[in-house]
Amino acid sequence: MNLSPPRGTRDFYPAEMRLRSWLHGRFREVARRFGFEEYDAPVVESADLYVRKAGEEIVDQIYTFQDKSGRDLALRPEMTPSLARMVLQRGGALGLPIKWFSVPQCWRYERMTRGRRREHFQWNMDVFGVPGVTAEAELLAAAVALFEDVGLTAGDVDVRVSSRRLLEGLLQAEGVGDDLFGPVCVLLDKLEKVPREAVEEELGSLGVEAAVIDRALEFASCATLEEARALGGDEQGLQDLERLFELAAAYGCDGWLRFDPSLVRGLAYYTGVVFEAFPARGEWRALCGGGRYDRLLSAFGGRDVPACGFGFGDAVIMELLKDLGRLPELPGRIDDVVFAFAADLRAPAMEVAARLRRSGRSVDLILEERRMKWAFRHADAAGAARLVLLAPEEWERGVLKVRDLSTGEEVERRPEELG
Ligand code: HAM
Repeated sequence: MNLSPPRGTRDFYPAEMRLRSWLHGRFREVARRFGFEEYDAPVVESADLYVRKAGEEIVDQIYTFQDKSGRDLALRPEMTPSLARMVLQRGGALGLPIKWFSVPQCWRYERMTRGRRREHFQWNMDVFGVPGVTAEAELLAAAVALFEDVGLTAGDVDVRVSSRRLLEGLLQAEGVGDDLFGPVCVLLDKLEKVPREAVEEELGSLGVEAAVIDRALEFASCATLEEARALGGDEQGLQDLERLFELAAAYGCDGWLRFDPSLVRGLAYYTGVVFEAFPARGEWRALCGGGRYDRLLSAFGGRDVPACGFGFGDAVIMELLKDLGRLPELPGRIDDVVFAFAADLRAPAMEVAARLRRSGRSVDLILEERRMKWAFRHADAAGAARLVLLAPEEWERGVLKVRDLSTGEEVERRPEELG
């Protein structure tokens, strides 16, 4: 039998689990500082939720199956559709705006490359009900706060920001209708990955002229907003970005951001500002990505509400921190190891452990017959602060030996004096 987990998935042994819990703890802590509330949804959703005809990779990568009643279900590849479903379900009762976060596990049947796996955890931060770029600024500030929190600097990360409105203006000028906006963006996003002819062919099948590629590439090469303006970029889109950079300066995170009009993003639902962060050096997939999606709810048959957010994966950030030697040392969480020298002291040892646990300490009680030497080595390896020993002679006098494992100092204590 093959003992590996399915390809692209991970086991989390305690050492890895400590790191995972640490990272998720940082996600939650930053979300708390920004006043976002946590939500969750099932990892299994109705497959319908992901039916989109925009040629997105994500839709081809979905794990789907039928349940025993023949329902078509899917493992969520991303959280945004579930969140949109939840917002729609509550309708007006929710009281906008909402600022919510979650750390869901997402599943995508992807080709495996560095930092790209078939399951990943993705910190999601989303704002519903705020139409202006104050929401984008808040979200970018949160992503940067996470980078800072885990010890990264502006030199380590490249955060690219653009707006699909720039493309929207350009596509309208080329006669591309609203209904094709999403699919055409998805195709233009592929220009970096697939040959131009393939993109041209797919554009052609949508009835769109290949010339839009030239216009898009012309825009993509602009280094500044002024250049984009000179090329006739959409004025509202440009103003949004100008304002966003101003607000980012107020948050003190503008030094992390860079205007990059070549950024489109591969999901069809984005309508305005889009952003994506990459490690500054080397070939990596993105650390996080997001943007504004003001028209997603109507795609589900509801009334649109302005929305924007981002997803921040766990895999790339961990690889990057490892590469940079900045993963934290995470000590074990044991306060006391309790050890009974003799079998008849086992019940008293349990009483002592119970007392310590009631006081909130983390206690590893040695459950089996062991030698003293083993208990020392074990307590050391567990990174415990103290070893609490029940020895026959001392116990008869009603005391325990308590050894401070950092200083080696040993004292006698009555059980009620421990804390
Ligand atoms: P996304 O760009 O597809 O956006 O994913 C967001 C992040 O999740 C990526 O930048 C990456 O860190 C991580 N990620 C995605 N796929 C994988 C994978 N196969 N292996 C490892 N990490 C991965 C979304 O999913 C949007 N729903 C984000 C969003 C939220 N937009 C608005 N709100």
